Amino acid sequence: MSITITGGTGTLGRRVVETLRAAGQSPSILSRRPGADHVVADLQTGAGLPQALDGTETVLHLATNRRSDARATQHLLDAARAAGVQHLVYVSIVGVDAVPLGYYRSKLACEELIAGSGVPYTIVRATQFHEFVADFLRPQRRLPRVITLDVPVQPISTTAVAERLAALATTAPAHGRVDDLGGPEVLPLAEFARQWVEARGAAPEAARRRVVEWHLPGRLADAYRAGLHTTGVPGPGIPFAEWAATTP
Ligand SMILES: NC(=O)c1ccc[n+]([C@@H]2O[C@H](COP(=O)([O-])OP(=O)(O)OC[C@H]3O[C@@H](n4cnc5c(N)ncnc54)[C@H](OP(=O)(O)O)[C@@H]3O)[C@@H](O)[C@H]2O)c1
Repeated sequence: MSITITGGTGTLGRRVVETLRAAGQSPSILSRRPGADHVVADLQTGAGLPQALDGTETVLHLATNRRSDARATQHLLDAARAAGVQHLVYVSIVGVDAVPLGYYRSKLACEELIAGSGVPYTIVRATQFHEFVADFLRPQRRLPRVITLDVPVQPISTTAVAERLAALATTAPAHGRVDDLGGPEVLPLAEFARQWVEARGAAPEAARRRVVEWHLPGRLADAYRAGLHTTGVPGPGIPFAEWAATTP
């Protein structure tokens, strides 16, 4: 099967490429930069897309610049239709239709463009990756306190998301959304922060004292506090603490 991955050089995309290769597939990586197995194209301008998708049966669409994803997705859909792509799999985020965040609105706009495009498709929404939580905590390592918010999170390993995407890429289009994909635990962000600090060598009591929880007012914080970005059911993959213990 001929598979092309947008965002195949990113945090999630690298795992998807590994997973597909381990399953015997040879995916093409659509990137703005040349490299091994890369097809060079730019989703923002559309340059290179017809050549990149020539002969592609399935597209895994993971690319994002967190600002103008709808424009990129429209270019991809135009090229996919022209190339006769048989299945486009899109990774979105749990709660894009419920949490009032600009990035989520743009992900929802992408979902709507895909659904109306005529290209056979599957959409899967995932919760925050373990890397996302770590990226929030790591810059605070030299501060006396680690600042968190009073919100729940359900982080998931990119390995688990990649396994789901690789499976979807080799099954028939759902012509809609499939079940949301969340991590194995829903816990307060502060608890994950304590786990992170402990994994960096602090004693449990010291980690507990170091982490503080802020309460922000407003609709956006309320939506996160209500857990609208979580699935409510435990999902697959290793728990955050286990992942943090082996992550620099
Ligand atoms: N991070 C999370 O917690 C999370 C949770 C749920 C869902 N998601 C979704 O998962 C997907 C992957 O996220 P990520 O954090 O792994 O992304 P990432 O590491 O930021 O990677 C972004 C990717 O987008 C590509 N890209 C950006 N602009 C492009 C352009 N104009 N043309 C072609 N490619 C372009 C980059 O490729 P080059 O630089 O090689 O061109 C890169 O591979 C996104 O759709 C995101 O919304 C993320």
